[in-house]
Amino acid sequence: MQLGEMEAVSNFCARVSAVLFIIANAYYPARVIARKFTTWTSETTLFFRRYMKAHITLNLIAFLALIVHAHWAEERNFILTSSAIVTVILTIEGVLMHFRVMPDSRKHLRLLHTQQALVILWIVLIVAGHHMV
Ligand code: HEM
Ligand code: HEM
Repeated sequence: MQLGEMEAVSNFCARVSAVLFIIANAYYPARVIARKFTTWTSETTLFFRRYMKAHITLNLIAFLALIVHAHWAEERNFILTSSAIVTVILTIEGVLMHFRVMPDSRKHLRLLHTQQALVILWIVLIVAGHHMV
């Protein structure tokens, strides 16, 4: 691939992964808002069960797109690499939990995966890393 083509592929995958990550992980604020401001019905439960499936599928597709984006990105720095590492960690935790790879550690994995601090760190690293390039 020529340099211009690589950049185009990288940028395309960057946008795909950004949009999918946002939709997939809006699950969390959506559930907080629903809990606080709506009466929780069986329909709400069903909605969030389906949304959880989307959380999983879209995060996995976004992760693949991110790998392509990062691989062909023109520049990189320590912060961006760190953001990629945190993405890998979050994805592995999710996969191990969802596919019950380590059933005995499910409780601990859940605790790690739903850690707000890690998600906040992830967002800060993505924003700060791109700000630097
Ligand atoms: C973790 C999730 C990440 C997301 C959601 C993301 C998203 C994006 C988006 C939406 C763009 C703008 C693309 C465009 O201009 O069309 C971009 C640009 C870029 N990203 Fe990422 N990115 C991520 C991680 C990374 C990593 C790990 C690297 C490096 C290894 C990286 C390197 C770059 C570079 C060099 C640019 C070009 C900046 C510029 O044109 O000013 N990104 N990214
Ligand atoms: C960067 C990617 C990801 C982020 C930022 C993320 C973030 C989160 C957050 C904040 C929660 C907590 C939701 C809540 O408390 O209601 C959650 C739950 C969950 N995530 Fe992810 N996730 C990611 C990727 C994945 C992947 C790839 C999978 C599976 C393959 C996955 C599977 C799950 C499952 C099964 C839960 C439900 C845990 C439970 O309530 O028992 N996640 N995720």
